Amino acid sequence: MESTKKNSVFIATSIDGYIADKNGGIDWLHSIPNPNNDDMGYVEFASNIDAIIMGRTTFEKVCSFDVDWPYDKPVFVLSNTLVEIPESHREKAFLIKGTLSEIIAQINGKGYNRLYIDGGTTIGNFLKADLIDEMTITIIPIVLGGGSPLFSEVPNELKFELVKTKTYLNEITQSHYKRKR
Ligand SMILES: NC(=O)c1ccc[n+]([C@@H]2O[C@H](COP(=O)([O-])OP(=O)(O)OC[C@H]3O[C@@H](n4cnc5c(N)ncnc54)[C@H](OP(=O)(O)O)[C@@H]3O)[C@@H](O)[C@H]2O)c1
Repeated sequence: MESTKKNSVFIATSIDGYIADKNGGIDWLHSIPNPNNDDMGYVEFASNIDAIIMGRTTFEKVCSFDVDWPYDKPVFVLSNTLVEIPESHREKAFLIKGTLSEIIAQINGKGYNRLYIDGGTTIGNFLKADLIDEMTITIIPIVLGGGSPLFSEVPNELKFELVKTKTYLNEITQSHYKRKR
């Protein structure tokens, strides 16, 4: 496994910065016809991570999908309310507790260094602690007007540099940013 420690975000938002609509729905993510099932860089991104840190809401959402478990890397779930991972997912997902620095140290200690950080509140908490190194943000051309925001307040501004920007399906823009430290 790679030894470089890195916390990355790969997420899709509406133009107005929401990652789920007012009802918690994400159907709008698929509102642009995608006849050839372009993965928009996700497969390559996923092949370069060692583990996933996910908020409880996103975990429960993924569990509710009527599809096979979509991850081939360990998923560490953050929650103050969940007591245990449902039996159906115990081989794949693990509840993890502590401060974010403790959690990262614990996961890095298992040899997982390149981490995919997922879920709006979770990403917000990582940004507040300046623990995000890279973000790939895919913008779907829709204004949702409310829902789960990707961003929340951070105590200090965080500068990022643009690594690359790409357009998919003539409608969707994707920007890859790296934290400037
Ligand atoms: N557009 C996309 O690409 C995309 C990607 C991912 C998710 N989503 C959607 O976004 C929505 C989820 O967003 P969300 O804002 O609710 O965020 P989330 O990060 O998935 O879940 C938030 C929950 O995670 C737990 N949590 C987060 N940070 C924690 C910490 N430091 N310590 C302990 N627990 C922590 C808390 O769980 P407890 O309440 O249990 O304490 C918190 O309520 C879902 O609807 C999901 O489907 C969309």
